[in-house]
Amino acid sequence: MISGTPGTGKTQVAGILAKKLSFKLIAVNDFAEAHGLIIGNDDVRGSLVIDEEKLKAEIEKISGDVVVEGHLAHFCSADLVVILRTNPAELEKRLLSRDWSPEKISENVEAEILDVILQEAVEVNSNVVEIDTTDIDAGYVSKVISNMVRNKSYGVYRPGKVSWESYFDRFS
Ligand SMILES: Nc1ncnc2c1ncn2[C@@H]1O[C@H](COP(=O)(O)OP(=O)(O)OP(=O)(O)O)[C@@H](O)[C@H]1O
Ligand SMILES: [Mg+2]
Repeated sequence: MISGTPGTGKTQVAGILAKKLSFKLIAVNDFAEAHGLIIGNDDVRGSLVIDEEKLKAEIEKISGDVVVEGHLAHFCSADLVVILRTNPAELEKRLLSRDWSPEKISENVEAEILDVILQEAVEVNSNVVEIDTTDIDAGYVSKVISNMVRNKSYGVYRPGKVSWESYFDRFS
């Protein structure tokens, strides 16, 4: 599972990783659409609402090696759950290039500062790692992940290393 705040590079990293490992690639949004798991539209956030329970159940049915990427991926159980992290200032830059409202951008930057996805992930999974991708490209990130998958050694990537504490007052 590859999850993280929007703009942290999930889609890019997962694409490279799936090729590297010769695993099947599943994007949560496409998968949910194909399996009729979309239960609505969040007009405020401009995003799809996915039935999380059914998503979990459907994902658990998949057999074989697979890389699942997308928001909500961290709610599903997996051998390894990778949360991508990005420095809030860099993340804001990336999101500003999207056609998003200022509210949606700051909501997501704030979520990154407060470790929201990471915390959600560790609540339901014990095998969670986080990778700060700010200064490394997607190719290198996928190399780090493929090494973890092969060696089952997570060392410095255990949760708790990434801290955006210095941004607490800047974005509040
Ligand atoms: N490690 C990286 N370093 C610099 N830029 C990156 C990195 N990873 C991704 N990017 C850039 O950040 C942007 C967002 O990447 P991507 O679409 O993969 O994010 P995402 O997490 O899938 O976002 P979303 O949740 O909206 O689908 C892209 O423009 C991509 O080129
Ligand atoms: Mg994406």
